[in-house]
Amino acid sequence: MIKSLLASFYAILVMVICLVLYLYLGLPRQNLAADIQVSQTPEQVERGRYLVEHVAACDDCHSKRDWNFYGGPVIPPLGAGHECLSREEKIIGVRVQDDTIPGVLCIRNLTPDKRSGVGRWTDGELLRAIREGVDPNGHAVFPVMPYSVYKRFSDEDVSAVVAYMRQLPPVSSEWFGRGIEFPMGLLSQFWPEPLMWPIIKPDIVSSAQYGSYLAAIGRCEHCHTVRRKFGRNLAPEGRFAGGVVFEVNGQEVVSSNLTPHESGLGNMSRAEFIAKFKSFSQPQKSPPEGNTPMNWTAYSGMTETDLGAIYDYLQTRRPVDTSSK
Ligand code: HEC
Ligand code: HEC
Repeated sequence: MIKSLLASFYAILVMVICLVLYLYLGLPRQNLAADIQVSQTPEQVERGRYLVEHVAACDDCHSKRDWNFYGGPVIPPLGAGHECLSREEKIIGVRVQDDTIPGVLCIRNLTPDKRSGVGRWTDGELLRAIREGVDPNGHAVFPVMPYSVYKRFSDEDVSAVVAYMRQLPPVSSEWFGRGIEFPMGLLSQFWPEPLMWPIIKPDIVSSAQYGSYLAAIGRCEHCHTVRRKFGRNLAPEGRFAGGVVFEVNGQEVVSSNLTPHESGLGNMSRAEFIAKFKSFSQPQKSPPEGNTPMNWTAYSGMTETDLGAIYDYLQTRRPVDTSSK
């Protein structure tokens, strides 16, 4: 009897040790950083600038923002970093309701500064961090950095992003590393997903298909879909139906329904959609009714073709009625 009890005790002990070893040594799942150098042609850098500043709007989080203006346009220099975030602080000036940082998180600036930026990283390490969420030490990047969205970046476009980052003038900002507490620190090691195959740029011939790509890397879906509690999966039934509650400058604002239902964009024409974005090309003072986390000024720099493509894609979505909410 005692023997069999001891045997099962040892069996369980071995299993626990294996599990702990797996958690600490086997995670996050990762590819080796690619041994490549991205080309620095002017076209490539310009494409990267467009993607970073106007489509992906990386500076929403990687720069300071001016919340006196509607949508919090970025305060130059671009990519110059942000104060470290802690539990008490609002997340990046904006707070997604109920979300807090479990510890301290410092956001690297995107410039080639060697300490607070990415000056010491290889191009391959950068590509991997952006799309696969693994840092040069092999640790998971905390998923406030939306790499689960950026995994859709095509190889060509993500290389352009890196080319652009490489030529930014180095800026030094606040950076003390990340201190995510247990259990989130450990749980976040499960997030990274290694890419298994090349990501081909979507066909621009089909506007809606291209729009789906832009809406992903532009994080439109990310903010306009209520996420499941504790899950990184977006709730499929409510995709693009809005309803995410944010807090900006202490005031609540809810993201809009972007599906083609009347309670969404049903009554907005393609031209009106494009015009709405373009109307923010000059930053506008934030009205007393409240501000928004959506960086309209950054997005207003998208081309009409690209904004039209996003509209075309949104029109293909299943209409969701949110009028009763
Ligand atoms: C919603 C906010 C947000 C957006 C948008 C965003 N990032 Fe980040 N990023 C973060 C946070 C937060 C971190 C810090 C994560 C950590 O240290 O674990 C980070 C970290 C990084 C890192 C470094 C990771 C490390 O281990 O230090 C790189 C590189 C990076 N981001 C690139 C980008 C690029 C390129 C874009 C645009 C294509 C972008 N980010 C958009 C929030 C964001
Ligand atoms: C950081 C979160 C966030 C991101 C990213 C974001 N939005 Fe929004 N969006 C909001 C919020 C909140 C509102 C409601 C307040 C406002 O009008 O800005 C909104 C409003 C809108 C509206 C206005 C709808 C109406 O009825 O007037 C449109 C259109 C829109 N978003 C489209 C987009 C598209 C397209 C993208 C991607 C390119 C995007 N959003 C990215 C949060 C976001």
